[in-house]
Amino acid sequence: MGMAGIDRGADGLRDQLWELARARGIGRRQFLRLLSLGGAGAVLAACGPGPQSIETDTAPAPAAAPAEGWFKDSGPFIEHGGQSLEARLENLESLVTPAHQFFVRNNSRSLDLDASEWRLQVTGDAVGEPLELSYEQIRELPVRQFTAYLECAGNHRAMFDVVNGRKASGTQWMTGAIGNGEWAGTPLRGVLELAGVGDGAVSVQLIGLDLESPERGFRYVLPIAKAMHPDTLLAHTLNGEPLPRDHGFPLRALVPGWVGAASVKWLGRIEVARRPIFGRTNTTSYVLIGDRFPANAPAQGEPVHAQVIKSALALPWPARITAGRTRLRGFAQSPTGPITRVQWSADSGTSWAEAELVDSQPDYSWARFEFFWDATPGEHSIMTRATDAVGNHQPAEVPFNAKGYLFNQPLPHPVQVT
Ligand code: MTE
Repeated sequence: MGMAGIDRGADGLRDQLWELARARGIGRRQFLRLLSLGGAGAVLAACGPGPQSIETDTAPAPAAAPAEGWFKDSGPFIEHGGQSLEARLENLESLVTPAHQFFVRNNSRSLDLDASEWRLQVTGDAVGEPLELSYEQIRELPVRQFTAYLECAGNHRAMFDVVNGRKASGTQWMTGAIGNGEWAGTPLRGVLELAGVGDGAVSVQLIGLDLESPERGFRYVLPIAKAMHPDTLLAHTLNGEPLPRDHGFPLRALVPGWVGAASVKWLGRIEVARRPIFGRTNTTSYVLIGDRFPANAPAQGEPVHAQVIKSALALPWPARITAGRTRLRGFAQSPTGPITRVQWSADSGTSWAEAELVDSQPDYSWARFEFFWDATPGEHSIMTRATDAVGNHQPAEVPFNAKGYLFNQPLPHPVQVT
């Protein structure tokens, strides 16, 4: 769709597009730049997913039928390219996210594995004796359980564009590439010890079964210290039930506080090496690439491991509410400690008021917060910012990185009050 279709005889459409873009926090200059470079399609893409649509005969064709990259009902989610399902925070009420509302991030598609035929192999030059474990054997190992949020490294990625006007590559997640689960499993450490992993071990590569062969699955490398942490789990249970297929049945890693990619699903093999292992997920993906980030050969930038402190409102983007005293709520999370404070601002950060934390946070859980706002008619933007128990807080600005990881500026959430 080109400029011509917009400019000539389609002023109504341009006005509608501008209304939508403005509501999504896009400035006039950026709107015009997008329109001239890529037409209405570029503007719509920059607006990101949302409940609104523009009805016109020049609007983009409806998205292709989902490629069925998942098993769950995609109804409550925002779909991204047949591979990923983004939660709508406004639909999440409880502290623990029900499995059917838990976001899905797949690099290919969900697997339907038969636990009776499945095996976990532990191999590599730092293993005393290669080990193979069945599902039953895994289930007999000591169990550890805790609540932990799981968040994609690219959660909030769309905000590099929506808020700062510079688009990063990758799935354009808004705020819903996150869920909070009650996980149970056995510590990875115990399995490594069973395989006789000794002092010389450096890297532990977790390999999923979701590409053509076990040799090519999605994989992520943990340094040995993180692999040996007692809370790095081989998880078989989510919210008291065996893992759903979309979340890695029969076994996945669960690395609390680290980017979601570390929590490899449909685990097939664990390779333990005496040398650093490099692959896609620590050289070209899950690394910070940008002017402010030096390359670190063979990686294109500093690897992304731990998540960062964030907060978001449980509202559609943009939101529409009626005037009057209104309860607004949201979620905040940090990898470095429980959330101790959430503040909110209705004047672009000039002044801040305290939000209330709704409950105490077990283990590695996220926090729920709420506050009351006297909403007056007009266009508003509400920001929130969180602080954790060790004093970490959200920064005023995040430097751009090409793959759009770890965006944790306070979000200016557009709210229209009528
Ligand atoms: N594991 C496998 N085998 N394949 C994948 O595509 N995606 C990773 C991680 N583990 C992935 C995987 C990413 S990028 C994220 S954010 C989390 O799984 C998402 O977990 P979920 O789909 O259970 O929410």
